[in-house]
Amino acid sequence: MKLYDQNPTIDFLAQAEKPLDDKQNEDTHAHDETRQGEVFFVGTPKAEKYFYIESYGCAMNFADSEIVASILLEIGYAPTRIMEEADLFLINTCSIREKAEATVRKRLELFAKYKRQRKGLMVGVLGCMAERLKQKLVEEDKLVDIVVGPDAYRDLPNLLNRADEGNRSVNVLLSREETYSDIAPVRLVTNGVSAFVSIMRGCDNMCSFCVVPFTRGRERSRDAFSIIAEASDLFQKGYREVTLLGQNVDSYKWDNPATQTTVTFADLLEMTALINPLLRVRFSTSHPKDITDGVLFTIAKYKNICNYIHLPVQSGNSRVLELMNRTYTREWYMERVARIYELMPDCAISSDIICGFCTETEEDHADTLSIIEYSRFTLAYQYIYSERPGTLAARKYADDITAETKQRRLEEVIEVQNRVSLEGNKLDIGNTFEVLIDGDSKRSAAHWAGRTSQNKVCIFEKTPDDGLAAGSYTTVLIHDCTKATLFGTMVTI
Ligand code: SAH
Ligand code: SF4
Ligand code: F3S
Repeated sequence: MKLYDQNPTIDFLAQAEKPLDDKQNEDTHAHDETRQGEVFFVGTPKAEKYFYIESYGCAMNFADSEIVASILLEIGYAPTRIMEEADLFLINTCSIREKAEATVRKRLELFAKYKRQRKGLMVGVLGCMAERLKQKLVEEDKLVDIVVGPDAYRDLPNLLNRADEGNRSVNVLLSREETYSDIAPVRLVTNGVSAFVSIMRGCDNMCSFCVVPFTRGRERSRDAFSIIAEASDLFQKGYREVTLLGQNVDSYKWDNPATQTTVTFADLLEMTALINPLLRVRFSTSHPKDITDGVLFTIAKYKNICNYIHLPVQSGNSRVLELMNRTYTREWYMERVARIYELMPDCAISSDIICGFCTETEEDHADTLSIIEYSRFTLAYQYIYSERPGTLAARKYADDITAETKQRRLEEVIEVQNRVSLEGNKLDIGNTFEVLIDGDSKRSAAHWAGRTSQNKVCIFEKTPDDGLAAGSYTTVLIHDCTKATLFGTMVTI
């Protein structure tokens, strides 16, 4: 995430235009570094009032900003990416690591400058940090007018009214039911090809390091029919890829009141795949303890369900996994990986890894390095453990690994992963893949950029009058690669 302190307006213009180009490097993982601080913008409709919203954190937060936009549009606000034009600044925040919160605090300092200069400008903090810090945010930070937790966005019009009358207000009530299933999200910065669809909210897992169960509340699944309606509508509008989102999609479970039957995640995947064979279906995130053979069979059965599973391991050592309360062992994880490759030899698996969790020894760390090799991850997001107040780990275990050791272990994990990624990509050379085009390559308008089913970025030369566009499928023969990208040529089959 870059910071924009020198010239915020100009930098934000650049940032707001960036995501279209950046799409080619984007992945469908729930926490995308290229999107941190992204500014919502859909055009410049004329309105009496304008809101400016920045989003941080995981894809679920970005999806929520689209819900918030929809609610604000209803009450007469239009989006803007020009800070000087806005009557309302919103920041949709993340608490996952200390750094994520520090970034938000920096932005709030900048918002304060604007507020001092502009009478009537309102500032709202949304999302996970709002939920974590609650009332404290208005008490500590005199500039904040409203604080709204992830389950309270329907209350925004009311909170804004009260703030207008000079009452700073907070709504951080968590809900057991809210899924916003009836609110059509206003699509943000989009390439018109891929969209996120929230299928559940909250998390019941209580991994000991994680703040999400506290900020997002209990797990609940969204009405399956509203999910299918949203995905079908996206397809009608020309989208060709949906990513079903949840903190733990494999535990999706919705009881259909009309038929008294339960829709599982495997059922939901199938229902989404059946919308149209031209609609690619992705999902994030899978929990190793919950990914069933039923889900794997469904992925294998439908060509348009992508052969790509984001399966965060966190650590390769069973003792550490137990301290993390991940409820699986190294052996369990390896068995699941083996099963995936048995059923789908060409399936890609990516992961999340935490370096330097409480009590982690050099041997434990070596187990993490070896599980990367064993699992042949195509990609991994690597993090240094960051103690989060209120979590089980913060209460029970000492954060006893030094910053230097955490950093060194992180570098070792990155090094092994980079090598494994490159080796994996080299195996693709000489093979053909169906690629869904995201748009022009970032580096050259003479090339297309797209992704394979395995979610690998693929760059290839356009041919004159190829009749292709963002959202088209084509077949590409791979002839070169780096650790992050495949290069090829279009072939007719
Ligand atoms: N629900 C997903 C992950 C959501 S958070 C899952 O269970 O896999 C995304 C990632 O952030 C996690 O997978 C974990 O690797 C990392 N993370 C979460 N809490 C963290 C912490 N306290 N310190 C460092 N990394 C953390
Ligand atoms: Fe956090 Fe664990 Fe839930 Fe993922 S599954 S959101 S890591 S508590
Ligand atoms: Fe997502 Fe960050 Fe909240 S990762 S769920 S926005 S703490």
